[in-house]
Amino acid sequence: MLLEENPQKAVKVNVLHADEPAVLMQERRRLAIRIAVVGSGYVGLVSGACFADLGHEVVLVDNDEKKLVSLRTGDIPIHEQFLPELLARHRDRRITFSADLQAATRASQAIFIAVGTPPTESGDADLSYVESVAREISGAVDGYKVVVEKSTVPVFTNEWIRTIILRNGADPELFDIASNPEFLREGTAVTDFLYPDRIVVGVQSERAAALMREVYAPMTSGWYYGRADAIPRPDRAHTPPRLIVTSAQSAEMIKHASNAFLAMKISFINAVASICESVGANVQQVCDGIGSDSRIGPRFLNPGIGYGGSCFPKDLLAFRAVAKEGGYDFRLLEEVIRINEEQRRRFLKKVRSVLWTLRGKRLAVLGLAFKGGTDDIRESPALLLVEELLREGCHICAYDPAAMDRAKEVLPDTVEFAADPYQAAQGADAVLILTEWEEFSSLDLDQLRAVVKYPIVLDGRNLYDPAVMTAHGFSYYSVGRPPALCDEAPAGRSGKKERA
Ligand SMILES: NC(=O)c1ccc[n+]([C@@H]2O[C@H](COP(=O)([O-])OP(=O)(O)OC[C@H]3O[C@@H](n4cnc5c(N)ncnc54)[C@H](O)[C@@H]3O)[C@@H](O)[C@H]2O)c1
Repeated sequence: MLLEENPQKAVKVNVLHADEPAVLMQERRRLAIRIAVVGSGYVGLVSGACFADLGHEVVLVDNDEKKLVSLRTGDIPIHEQFLPELLARHRDRRITFSADLQAATRASQAIFIAVGTPPTESGDADLSYVESVAREISGAVDGYKVVVEKSTVPVFTNEWIRTIILRNGADPELFDIASNPEFLREGTAVTDFLYPDRIVVGVQSERAAALMREVYAPMTSGWYYGRADAIPRPDRAHTPPRLIVTSAQSAEMIKHASNAFLAMKISFINAVASICESVGANVQQVCDGIGSDSRIGPRFLNPGIGYGGSCFPKDLLAFRAVAKEGGYDFRLLEEVIRINEEQRRRFLKKVRSVLWTLRGKRLAVLGLAFKGGTDDIRESPALLLVEELLREGCHICAYDPAAMDRAKEVLPDTVEFAADPYQAAQGADAVLILTEWEEFSSLDLDQLRAVVKYPIVLDGRNLYDPAVMTAHGFSYYSVGRPPALCDEAPAGRSGKKERA
């Protein structure tokens, strides 16, 4: 029986621990699904940890031995809230780690593919990792299994996975392919996974749909949300998610179309911000005005230096390529991409217009990750800006709460890294805020004012009220809002500073 159909029973069974009576332990095991997650990156590791928290038995597979060793010894290779707690709770109990995909496949009812799908030169998704996983799974299909695409893939990938598994000798009666796109966002990945707006499952058979319903039953039934030790719900209303069953093609389309729409919303508000700058309007007030319309909503209306990360840029390119292949020239997507790139160039122009020449200027950079709450620097607009500023001869001292180790691997040795925002700002000609870390929205502005050479802040994420910045003696330049100017004399000579 599905947990969804009998949440009461599920509660009784799942809250029991080591000393539970044998008969209930058996029942809990019966309801738990044996799951393999292939790829222990941002999506795979979070999904695996969350599946274990839902009560399933999970084996996380990766072909990166170093990553497996560190995961087994308790290291967490990525920065993500609640992930350390979940892995500590389930490591060596409901989660194990393995490099042996075939053994993991044999042991599992559902195999989730969560490997990378990076862009090729032409913008198509590189599906070679997905193909190699499908090939390997084939030889281990020894009983009914559902192979689930969790990676973001172009439409019809499900059919290719099926073809590859069949070509390599698996019995067609023993497996189905499902598409279960993941909508988590780095930085809030665990809560996004456990408290989603909806779960999308694309299937080719009712048998596969039934297994997928069982996987997500602890969430759709509401059982998980009643548990005392559940990961806390986010600060927004949440009801148990609806599981939307579609065809596999539709599910693949849903993921690409969702990401394209969200990127479009960001580019839209960035374009509006640019117009605000030229007409003297305040984009924050405009966002408030348009975001209060329930048909539009306030989320993803955050003007800034553009979107980045491992998803939006590559998914937009892949979606455009899918459309082209299908005979549709999706020029709207090209414009979304163009506005995004233009947004970085505009910010750079702003830095130049405030500081005049850039060669030899010392800049404090706050934020390197592509967004707050993560250590991921893939396609980070902050990093792309730093690289541009270095080319222009600036000296950069950077601070990021989580992404510095990764940034050190890709930035030249000339970049200095600081232990905190104030050290980064020591003697700076200007402070640049490039990532929306919460820590950066609550800086001690007096302390910051005391260490900079000139009290100039260029905020690419609109974290501050301009009036608050001028009250603390800063000239403040943000996105889509009029600049807020102050006496920019070095510390010690400014009227504001002396009063402080
Ligand atoms: N990162 C996100 O926020 C996010 C959100 C939703 C969807 N997605 C999609 O999920 C997929 C994975 O993204 P990610 O950010 O987790 O990638 P990632 O690069 O962080 O992780 C991929 C993992 O797969 C492993 N891997 C590669 N080939 C393998 C193989 N043959 N066998 C076993 N392991 C293998 C790699 O070692 C790595 O650990 C992508 O398609 C991405 O578009 C990502």
